[in-house]
This record gives sequence, C-alpha cells and structure tokens, in this order.
Amino acid sequence: MNQIRKSLKTFVRIFALCGLSAILVTLITGYAAGLEVTQGPGDNRTGYESADYESRSISLLQRTGKAADLLHVLQSPPLGLPPVPVPRDNPVTQAKVQLGRKLFFDRRLSLNETMSCGMCHIPEQGFTNNELATSVGIEGRTVRRNAPTIYNVAYFSNIFHDGRETRLEYQVWQPMLAFNEMANPSIGYVVEKIRRLPDYTRLFETAFGGRGPGIETIGMAIAAYERTLVSGNSPFDHWHFGKDAAALSESAKLGFRLFRGKAGCAACHTIGDETALFTDDAFHNTGLGWQASVGTDPSEVQVQLAPGIKVPVPRNVINSVGERPPSDLGRYEVTQDPTDRWRYKTPVLRNVALTAPYMHNGAFGTLREVVEFYNRGGVTNPLLDPLIRPLGLTKSEMEHIVAFLESLTGDNVETLVRDAFAAPIGDRR
Ligand code: HEC
Ligand code: HEC
Repeated sequence: MNQIRKSLKTFVRIFALCGLSAILVTLITGYAAGLEVTQGPGDNRTGYESADYESRSISLLQRTGKAADLLHVLQSPPLGLPPVPVPRDNPVTQAKVQLGRKLFFDRRLSLNETMSCGMCHIPEQGFTNNELATSVGIEGRTVRRNAPTIYNVAYFSNIFHDGRETRLEYQVWQPMLAFNEMANPSIGYVVEKIRRLPDYTRLFETAFGGRGPGIETIGMAIAAYERTLVSGNSPFDHWHFGKDAAALSESAKLGFRLFRGKAGCAACHTIGDETALFTDDAFHNTGLGWQASVGTDPSEVQVQLAPGIKVPVPRNVINSVGERPPSDLGRYEVTQDPTDRWRYKTPVLRNVALTAPYMHNGAFGTLREVVEFYNRGGVTNPLLDPLIRPLGLTKSEMEHIVAFLESLTGDNVETLVRDAFAAPIGDRR
C-alpha cells in the first residue's frame, strides 16, 4: 500500500514539474514571438535567408495586434514633448482615429489595390521603410525621396522634405494621386471608390456626423490618426527633463554634451527648456542634394546583386541602361529662391534609431555614417550651410553621439506598433 502511495506521489510530482515547464516554455516562446512581431520587415520572406542575409519578417496574417488608447497622448503629452497641436476644425475623436487608421492601412486606396500608406510607412520599421533608401511605389515605380517617419508628424506645419505641404489634412492627396505612389487618377475617383465600399459607410457617418467620404473627410480622418502617433518619454527625456541620473548611460550623456557643444548639432536640432523636438522646423543645405545633382559621379558604381554582395560596374555602363536619378532641388522647388537650392527640412531626431536609412535620399544606412558625414563637414558646395563644418571629433566622441541618438526612442513604440497591427486591413473586418 505504502509502495503504491509512494509511486503515486512521485507521479504527481513529475506531472506537476512537466506542467510547470510547459507553462514556462509557453511564456518564453510567447514573449519571444511578441518581440518578433514588433520588429523586422512586414512581408514573409521565408526561404530568402542565406548565411549573410537573415530576415526577421512575418506575414501579415500572423500578426496579432492590440488596440491602444491612442487619444491618451492628446490629453497628456509624453515627457519631453509639448502639447499636440490640433486644428480647431478637425478635433481628434475616437471615431475619426479608428477610421483614419483603417484608411491608412487599406490597400484599396491605390489604383490597383496593392499599396497602402502603411506599406511605405511600415509600423514595425519605425513608420518608415528600413529596407529602401528611396521609396518604391505601385508596380515597382521609383520615388525620388526617402519615406520619413510618421512619428511626431503632428508637430509640423512644414510637411515633406521640402515643406511643400502645410497640413496633414491636405497631405494625403499627394501620395494617393502620385503616379509612382498610389497612382489614383483623380480625387473624385478615390472618393467614389470609398463611397462604394460598404464597410466604410457607417464609419464615416459616425465620425463626421452623417457626412460621407469626401475630399475633406478622408484627409481629416487620416490626419487624426497620424496626430496620435506621438512618441516621447525616452531614456533621454527621463534623464534630461525628468532629472533621473540613472536613466542614461555615461556615453549617451557625453554624447548629449557634444551634441549641444563641440559638434554644434543643437543649432539646428533644437532642444527647448521643457521639451525637445530636435528640429528648428527650417531648411538647410548639408551638401547631399548638391552632390546628387551636380557633384562628380564616381567612375565606378557598386551594384548590389544580393544582400551584401556587390560588384563594381563602370558608370558609362550604368548610364547606358539605367535611368538618371530624377532632379531634386529641395526647398527651391517650393520657393523658387536660388539660395534655397538643395535645402531640406531638419528632421525630428526622436526614434531615429528605428528610422534608418537617413536623410532625404536615404544616403546613410547607420547613425554612425551620419555622424561621420557631419564630422567631415558635409559636402562642400557654394550654398553649404555655414553651421556645417569639419568638427574634429574623435572616434570615441562620435560613438558617444551615436549612443545619445539611440537614447531618443520613445517608450510607446511597441504599443503603437501593436495598435497598428490591430487595424482592420481592407475588408477583412
Ligand atoms: C510609395 C511610398 C509611399 C506611400 C504609398 C505613401 N508615402 Fe508618405 N511619404 C513617402 C515619401 C517618399 C515621402 C517624402 C516625400 C517628399 O518629401 O517629397 C512621404 C512623406 C509623407 C509625410 C510627410 C512626413 C514629413 O516628415 O514631412 C506624411 C505625413 C506621409 N508621407 C503620410 C502618408 C499617407 C497618409 C499616405 C497614404 C495616403 C502615404 N504617406 C503614402 C512615401 C510614401
Ligand atoms: C545646419 C543645420 C544642421 C546641423 C548643424 C546638424 N543637422 Fe542634422 N540634419 C539637418 C538637416 C537639414 C537634415 C536633413 C538632411 C537631408 O534630408 O538631406 C539633418 C538630418 C540629420 C539626421 C538624419 C535624420 C533622418 O531621419 O533622416 C541625423 C541623425 C542628424 N541630422 C543628426 C545630426 C547630428 C548628430 C548633428 C551634429 C553632429 C547634426 N545633425 C547637425 C540639419 C542639421
């Protein structure tokens, strides 16, 4: 009898242990999977992996989202950021944000129903595209500039790299109509198409007090969603504004001092007394635009055949088969003032660790390259901004600046990415 009781006890113990480890395994893999879904490219490239290329992508259908309270940031902005400006004629409401988010991720908003806003402003890639220097639109058409992040876009009145648009409400029509982006033939075409989609009827009526899809309401809804993508409360904010000495590494602290001091970055990437947007909302010539337009072409171009595999190809061969890059004169295209040639908007540096590649043409893949570029004094040209000059930074000083830039990632990134994944894609809901 004792013998039976003993083996029964052992059995129960083993059983309990197995159960416990099963729970642990589930928790660990669940956590790992959780990390996976908020990082990496958006399409499933299984099978593309090789020794020097590893993709962490997941397919759209495998994503699990979790809707967040997006309106929260409007009531209380995160540490380090000023109150979110909201135009009086387009108050942000729950219904508008929900509708705007659905429109943002809906591929049916493009001519052939393949391309949504969210495919160039990819949530898990910092609401930009980490894989392309310059965007690729519908049917593989080339776009001349890099897709900027949508994080904190609520704070600008200068929209696009050249500041040619003034309000988010209007901005939406540019990508929707651009031949090389979403390629719709006209505003009316888009409006009529959305009118015919039954899943939108009620959403518009609820958000706009009975008004249906139209040139105004479509822009207002998408703008309302974008205004909620505010991200601050970073380790830097905790240290600098929150006075928490332990929030930042020593290296990042040194980097901040260089950023404001020797390196002179804060002259353009402004830091206020109580908040920091890291932009003067102005336009500057760092020489990159000049280099692409009139700079001397290298005689050989490194052509990438596969990830990491490059071969040198003579420039004349490239020119005989390839298209010349489209001209880009920056701010001049808006003002027609010759001194504005190759000036571009100073970008917000918040979340910059997530938003590679950098600059208006995606010239640099890493923050280190950006800092090295500034250290060289940019690209000399007749219109170079006087604040861009050789900085004489040492290697370790540059590392500190990079550490500082990496401390600007907001604490709600994962929440916003998961919220984006919860968006109903197309007519699935
Ligand atoms: C084909 C890729 C592509 C698509 C699709 C696309 N965008 Fe963009 N987006 C870009 C590029 C590239 C820029 C920069 C263009 C420029 O400065 O000339 C940009 C700029 C922006 C900006 C300005 C950001 C800033 O810092 O000034 C906003 C806002 C924006 N897009 C929102 C949207 C919305 C909303 C949609 C859908 C209606 C959309 N985008 C669709 C590539 C895309
Ligand atoms: C004269 C003004 C000015 C100064 C000084 C300046 N920047 Fe910039 N910064 C800009 C402008 C303008 C751009 C955008 C350039 C473009 O799009 O081609 C930019 C782009 C960047 C970017 C890329 C951001 C993105 O999202 O693409 C980073 C990172 C950056 N600057 C960091 C720094 C650092 C670090 C320093 C100091 C070493 C510095 N900047 C000094 C004006 C300035």
